[in-house]
Amino acid sequence: VRIFVPRDSAALAVGADEVAAAIVGEARRRGVAIDLVRNGTRGMLWLETLVEVELADGRHGYGPVEPEDVAGLFDAGFHDGAATGAGGTAGATPHRLLLGLVEAIPYLARQDRLIFARSGVTDPLSLHDYQAHGGYRGLRAALGMAPEAIVAAVTESGLRGRGGAAFPTGIKWNTVLKADGAQKYIVCNADEGDSGTFADRIVMESDPFLLIEGMTIAGFAVGADKGYIYVRSEYPHAIAALERAAGLARARGFLGPDVLGTGRAFELEVRKGAGAYICGEETALLESLEGKRGVVRAKPPLPALAGLFGRPTVINNVLSLAAVPLILDRGPAWYRDFGMGRSRGTLPVQLAGNIKRGGLIELAFGTTLREILYGYGGGSASGRPIKAVQVGGPLGAYLPESQWDTPLDYEAFAALWAVLGHGGIVVHDDSADMAKLARYAMEFCAIESCGKCTPCRIGSTRGVEVIDKIRGGEGAGQAARQVVLLRDLCDTMLHGSLCAMGGMTPYPVLSALNHFPQDFGLETP
Ligand code: NAI
Ligand code: SF4
Repeated sequence: VRIFVPRDSAALAVGADEVAAAIVGEARRRGVAIDLVRNGTRGMLWLETLVEVELADGRHGYGPVEPEDVAGLFDAGFHDGAATGAGGTAGATPHRLLLGLVEAIPYLARQDRLIFARSGVTDPLSLHDYQAHGGYRGLRAALGMAPEAIVAAVTESGLRGRGGAAFPTGIKWNTVLKADGAQKYIVCNADEGDSGTFADRIVMESDPFLLIEGMTIAGFAVGADKGYIYVRSEYPHAIAALERAAGLARARGFLGPDVLGTGRAFELEVRKGAGAYICGEETALLESLEGKRGVVRAKPPLPALAGLFGRPTVINNVLSLAAVPLILDRGPAWYRDFGMGRSRGTLPVQLAGNIKRGGLIELAFGTTLREILYGYGGGSASGRPIKAVQVGGPLGAYLPESQWDTPLDYEAFAALWAVLGHGGIVVHDDSADMAKLARYAMEFCAIESCGKCTPCRIGSTRGVEVIDKIRGGEGAGQAARQVVLLRDLCDTMLHGSLCAMGGMTPYPVLSALNHFPQDFGLETP
């Protein structure tokens, strides 16, 4: 019997290795022959460690499993189907941890799993599994296409950058394709620094060949023979998975000087960041890759024209590159069919914070925030009313309940003066002090600022001081005077900062102030 125990960081953090060892030990003691597969994650993080057993009718899930549950699972016959309550050797009572067929769990069944179709299903480090589940079909399709045609397919798909800025990926690639230069690069931004985000990590840990395939296609599309994956140092398991996967791909001719006998080269290197949030900004990332301190470069020139080592460079987020194999395999029209307005395809939402069922939810654009929070998330973990959600990382706006019927769509969010960013949603219940969270945004900016421009470097420190005065409790008059200063400061940061770090810190600050003035000691309107 095949038994699956995830190997991704979230599962490891709650003891998946110990559960796996307990299953192997218990099976040996009982003389039960099992085939233990370390799969990726399904993204239902509250169920980790989610153990799956493959039976004739599909994969049955048990979770969350602790090592001490394992003997009981064998007693109940989870390896022969008895624990499902459907007969077997041990009786007909379903085990208390039984979740039923994993793919029928509504949280998963109601998703549009495109990028994450293989996540949790396959062994992430099996090239055989990858290809048996549709892997490398996109690259094979691309091999028969001219570079211009690959770029055109990506443009037609409507794919926009999933790192947060939502710039059309095909247009970015076209700039690099058309740029002069014998040496070009593909750089994957896997510095995933946003609070509450983990979708990039799941791709890298649960389906690393997908990213490698996407980068290889990008290389063929724009004429680049070298790629770098810049991964944050906090992701050791992702780095290990990528390095092993790249080695396996290389050994089978999917990477190297002559990819699949085409005579065309594509090589990959994995580089580790050093813990700076700003190195997720594309030009600071390039500086860091070049071995320098991660300081933002002024644009222009765009990295597409003068990027890594001054050469034309595609820089894309993990999720953007991971969508590419599917677009080439299934066709741009198929991909475009998901979504709404100008937001095409799927958005992998990452639900975190004070929420009952946190995890990864890949959905076509258009679902409302309320549906995510209650339909999928099940409300707050504390059981208290949800007060505010921060969407798009630490530089994203706080949205009050009046805005939760907004569909997930780049333009709809922009109209609210908010961002979807990389799809991270962090939930706060009614015990949250929004003035304290606004202070935190300024403090975060002060700590993570690269220091290159004054509005961000100095402004963020002044911002902390002003919010401290507002929160000082010296009455509504004093608070109101300081709020005028705070708004003025935010205006300077918004319009005078060189990059999104200083330029977007006002989003959480002003949204907190505008929607929750009472937390700042101001009279409510
Ligand atoms: P941007 O709007 O300046 O640029 C977007 C991308 O398009 C860049 O790669 C840029 O080089 C490229 N581009 C623009 N015009 C182009 C052209 N004509 N041809 C080719 N390429 C072109 O935005 P930026 O500063 O790169 O990103 C800001 C966003 O980053 C924010 O909206 C925020 O949501 C997100 N962010 C994401 C984080 C994460 O962890 N994923 C962390 C912090 C911020
Ligand atoms: Fe550096 Fe901040 Fe200026 Fe960005 S806004 S360039 S992080 S100082």
